[in-house]
This record gives sequence, C-alpha cells and structure tokens, in this order.
Amino acid sequence: MSKNISLTRYLVEQQRVDGHIPSQLRLLLEVVARACKGISQAVNKGALGGVLGSAGSENVQGEVQKKLDIIANEVLIEANEWGGHLAAMASEEMDQIYTVPNRYPRGEYLLLFDPLDGSSNIDVNVSIGTIFSVLKMPEDDRTVEEHDFLQAGAKQVAAGYCVYGPQTTLVLTVGDGVAMFTLDREQGSFVLTQENVRIPEDTQEFAINMSNMRHWDEPVKRYVDECLAGKDGVRGKNFNMRWIASMVADVHRILTRGGIFMYPWDKREPNKPGKLRLMYEANPMSWLIEQAGGAATNGKQRILDIQPTQLHERVSVILGSKNEVERVTAYHAKV
Ligand code: AHG
Ligand code: MN
Ligand code: MN
Repeated sequence: MSKNISLTRYLVEQQRVDGHIPSQLRLLLEVVARACKGISQAVNKGALGGVLGSAGSENVQGEVQKKLDIIANEVLIEANEWGGHLAAMASEEMDQIYTVPNRYPRGEYLLLFDPLDGSSNIDVNVSIGTIFSVLKMPEDDRTVEEHDFLQAGAKQVAAGYCVYGPQTTLVLTVGDGVAMFTLDREQGSFVLTQENVRIPEDTQEFAINMSNMRHWDEPVKRYVDECLAGKDGVRGKNFNMRWIASMVADVHRILTRGGIFMYPWDKREPNKPGKLRLMYEANPMSWLIEQAGGAATNGKQRILDIQPTQLHERVSVILGSKNEVERVTAYHAKV
C-alpha cells in the first residue's frame, strides 16, 4: 500500500466515488480526527501534562470522571461546535445533549461520542480511546431535541474510534468497509495503513471480564465453560483469553486478528441491560464489526436494530467473529 494516502485524501476520494461522503460529513470526520490528535497529545504527556487522576465529579451513570474524560469531552466539543457541520452533540460524559450555539451556523449532522473509553486504564498507561457515531438530524428546520438522537444504529452514516496505544490509530466506516489510519506524528496527519479490514469468521480467542462469572446468565456461562474446557470439551479446541478493559483496544484486536468480545447483562444491576452504552459504544462498534464481516448482538437481536428509548441507555454486547457470535446468540434462544 502507498505510504502517502492521508485521511484527507482518502475522504476526498471517497467523496468522488458515488459522492457517498457529502462535504459536510467529510468536514465532520476531519474535525473529529483533528480532535483525536489533540486528545492523543494530552494522553502522551500523561503526568507531565497534569492530565492523570480523578476530576472528582460523577457522570450520569454514577461513574467517577477522570480528568482526561473531561479534557477529551471539551476538546471534541470545541473542535466541532463552530464548523457548521453539526446540529448537536451527545456524550457519555454529559447528562444533556449539547446544541450548537446560535452564533455558529447549524449543520445537518448529530455527533455522539464516548470521549475517553477505558478510563480505568488512563493512570496505568494502558491503551484507551475515543469512540464516535454520526447520525443525520431527522428534520433540520426546528430545535434539536433529545429524541432526534434516538435512532437505531442501522441509521448511522459514519462511525469510528481512535485508539491511543503504542500507535495512535483511527478506524473508520462510512458504510463501505473499514479503513485504518495510523497517526504519523512527524507529518501530523493520519495515514491510511489498512483498507477492507476483514474479521476471520472463526476464532479461538474470547474477551470477557471473568470476575463477573458468578453473575452471568446461563447461555454466557455455557459458552465460556465450553471455551475453558478446550480440546477435551465439546468444542474440541483450546481457547485463549484477553481482557484489556478498554472496549476500543479489545475491538481493535478483534478487527485485527478476530475474536469475540462480551459484556453481557449480569445480576449485579438486574434492572439494567448491561454496562456498555448503546449510543456511544455498542452502536458504532457494532457497525464497524459488521462492516468487517463480523456480527454484533445483545444475545437476542442485532444491536443495530435496537430502537433506543433513552440517550444514555445501556445494552448487553456480544460482538466479533461471526460464527462465535452466532453460537452465543443461539444459546440465548434455547433458554
Ligand atoms: P468507559 O471508560 O468509557 O466508562 O468504558 C469502560 C468500559 C469498556 O471500555 C470496557 O470494556 C469495560 O468498561 C471494562 O469494564 P470492567 O472494568 O467492568 O471490566
Ligand atoms: Mn467507554
Ligand atoms: Mn468513557
């Protein structure tokens, strides 16, 4: 692959092909990428930039916010509010939607994000990231309201994430496959490093927080028990396990070499469908996974078909290599 296809050039060329990236969407993606570069800088500075540790506040889920959760949220808002491509934004770290101020022109898109995914890994120098999802404002001649965001994941027009790891990598779909861009710090730009990403349909690697095993439902227990039995069990092969505790990093590994990721419903909070958030985490990741040939369900249905009823709604997540996701989903049907 040529070393010199920048994100800008990739988007311009995608715009030419069937015009499937309108210019406002192209601008939006460039701005999100620029914001991710800023967040990457802050992450890299770590203790030197005074960005580690807790902010002492809580988000709508009752989770303690880290300084970087807040910094990343502000970077994304400041970068996106003035360009004229957005009507409003919603974030895991803000209780309410953020409507573009009247002093700026208003665009036709809605941007949703998890500004900093993997917060528990910030202070220990393990990979973290930013996840984003783009929807269209249903009608553009009135005030934006929360219900405008409540669209099924299948309606996304772009989705992606940026992982801040040993490399900073931006991963993107606009519905035409998945492309990966690595940040070249000398040039200051994202460079295309992989196109047409495909996830193998089979895998021998699973990702789940095993410490929650006693709280899981029967189908998930059955699946993991069968993986643990390895060669001697019904699966007839050995499995390996990884759990980074940053969804971005776990999904990035799965897009790179296959695997299955699960954060299922569990009995700790029986009234909530799971830990992860539908709009900021599950929808964008599920679309990326499907675009790379994988599958994503909540055990019962395709995640992208779920009609959201609340902005901060949570969901059970099973995603990755197609055959394994279908197996776990089939186990749920048998209960
Ligand atoms: P966030 O930092 O945005 O709150 O998300 C953390 C999520 C997700 O990235 C990860 O898969 C999961 O929480 C880890 O949870 P456990 O600590 O329960 O394993
Ligand atoms: Mn997250
Ligand atoms: Mn987060």
